[in-house]
Amino acid sequence: MNFKKLADDYGTPLYVYNFDYMKDRFDELKEAFRGRKSMICYAVKANSNISVIKHFAKMGSGCDCVSIGEVNRALRAGVSSYKIIFSGVGKRDDEIKEALEKDILLINLESEAELKRVEMIAKELNLTARISVRVNPNIDPMTHPYISTGLHESKFGVDIDSAKRMYIVAKNSNNLDPVGIHFHIGSQLTELNPIKEASEIVSDLVRSLKVLDINIKFFDIGGGIGVKYDNEERIKPYDYAQAILKTLSGLDMTIICEPGRFLTANSGYFLTKVLYEKVNVDKRFVIVDGAMNDLLRPALYNAYHKVEILNDSKESSIANLVGPVCESGDFFAKDIELPKTSHNDLVVVYSAGAYGFTMSSNYNTRGRACEVSVENEKVRVIRRRESFEDMIALETDLGD
Ligand code: LLP
Repeated sequence: MNFKKLADDYGTPLYVYNFDYMKDRFDELKEAFRGRKSMICYAVKANSNISVIKHFAKMGSGCDCVSIGEVNRALRAGVSSYKIIFSGVGKRDDEIKEALEKDILLINLESEAELKRVEMIAKELNLTARISVRVNPNIDPMTHPYISTGLHESKFGVDIDSAKRMYIVAKNSNNLDPVGIHFHIGSQLTELNPIKEASEIVSDLVRSLKVLDINIKFFDIGGGIGVKYDNEERIKPYDYAQAILKTLSGLDMTIICEPGRFLTANSGYFLTKVLYEKVNVDKRFVIVDGAMNDLLRPALYNAYHKVEILNDSKESSIANLVGPVCESGDFFAKDIELPKTSHNDLVVVYSAGAYGFTMSSNYNTRGRACEVSVENEKVRVIRRRESFEDMIALETDLGD
């Protein structure tokens, strides 16, 4: 990847995505489930650029969406409605209505209250809602607490007993069709055991529902496969698939898997340029033109992203790599060895393809970065840089 040329041609801060890498990861995962009925539903929240979604749609992917906005992105990108799932703990009435009208594959329910709401809206529309229930299996996924979702103390899903009750209500309803079951215990998982245990618990529930003549067709294992940011162990897709398949013996179901980070994180690079260096007493700072509004993960989770300064400097010392935003949390890396820099030196922040641009904002009235894709060496702008006019377009000037 010619980062210097990309930065010269499109400016910085810049997100660059390698579409060939995304395809390789998709194929790798698909291959792991070969011979079994399976469907990959790309988790749009990881990187929701329409061109990225379209790229996966062309490979046959469906989408896991967590707002009607994401559902509409998936549809706009050409994903068939029967491959779209709508999840999330707090869906509004208008979102539920629109999702039902658009006849997506299923709505994932996360509470008994939500089940009632979906039933009522489906009745008003005189149709039957295909649903699944997100089960919270109370498993510690051993990941960062902010991205851990499978313990009872987290807001996600419902416990086994409530799930059972919900399935019975759904079976007896004219407006609900319980076709799926879902769990997602957390993100950036690097250990297989928690996934396996969760899958065992949920498949046992499927078996006990069968006894009640409730036949679930879709076994939705969520997303969460971890990636290498630093020196983490990577779960191999084949081992992942086998661990889950083992828990499903005797059950004939389609596996749905909702990867986000696995497909996109290491396809992405965030390019930024050095503005200045300074030393406050004995602390050295390298200040760049990208910031926490562009890539929030270090500030929010203290997440590690490998950074590299592209210059030939032989001198180096410990420094913090920071952005221009008025927050002490605005950093990309802290206390790392960095070469001596000059104005305009290019900095590459690695593993930025997932939860990078999608979590960016206009904080400090900074326009969001430009995004480009690289596929077969062909570079395309997939989102132009945001201008000042873009940023204020929706605001009203109340005059004098
Ligand atoms: N399915 C459900 C129901 C989810 O909640 C998520 C992610 C996924 C799938 C996709 O998970 P993945 O395969 O990407 O791990 N902003 C955080 C990550 C939040 C993940 C939220 N849910 C980060 O930057 O690390």
